[in-house]
Amino acid sequence: MTNISLFFATNNVHKVEEVTALLPDFFQIRSLESIGCTEDIPENEPTIAGNAIAKAQYVHDKYMVDVFAEDTGLEVDSLDGEPGVYSARYAGPQRDSIANMRLLLQNLGDKKNRNARFRTCMALIKDGQIHLFEGIVEGTISSELSGKEGFGYDPIFVPAGHSKTFAEMSLKEKSQMSHRARALNKLIEFLSKNPDKRNPQI
Ligand code: IMP
Repeated sequence: MTNISLFFATNNVHKVEEVTALLPDFFQIRSLESIGCTEDIPENEPTIAGNAIAKAQYVHDKYMVDVFAEDTGLEVDSLDGEPGVYSARYAGPQRDSIANMRLLLQNLGDKKNRNARFRTCMALIKDGQIHLFEGIVEGTISSELSGKEGFGYDPIFVPAGHSKTFAEMSLKEKSQMSHRARALNKLIEFLSKNPDKRNPQI
């Protein structure tokens, strides 16, 4: 398999850790710092897919590199799909995960239907073309925070068919079923079928 190396347009170390752990040997992530991209990457679109594309497009247009980006949201059925695209800033601009989870549990109250899903959209810009890949994991919202692993809403999300939250699972266990792993696997499959046209040696 021809080696692939791509930039990952994210400022989130947890996402880099999860994605890096899932990459096959032929696929390496290149550091944004190496091209001087240390600024916050804007994400102001009204949809998850739109944000994923905007993040990839920002790095592609500014630094002229092939790149992928992702955006993730937690959709809770009893809250009409909220927090969705506003997951990061649900409790305010400070992007505080504990405050976000507490507000979500408060808004959910004692509603019977606690069904929810994580949705990840991954946007790849390669050879000037945009490609989108989606990964979803269904589950339920627990009544309290449990577990210290992972990040974001992991302490309150129990994937379907399991009794532990994502935050009570190891990275390996979470990645066997996660929204991010599912989207990434589609991207890897696409890349393995569409090797680099311009730079076949890297
Ligand atoms: P964004 O994709 O960085 O905008 O993330 C949106 C929100 O979802 C943030 O609050 C993240 O912490 C949270 N989030 C993203 N991915 C995950 C995940 O895999 N587990 C739990 N929360 C996540």
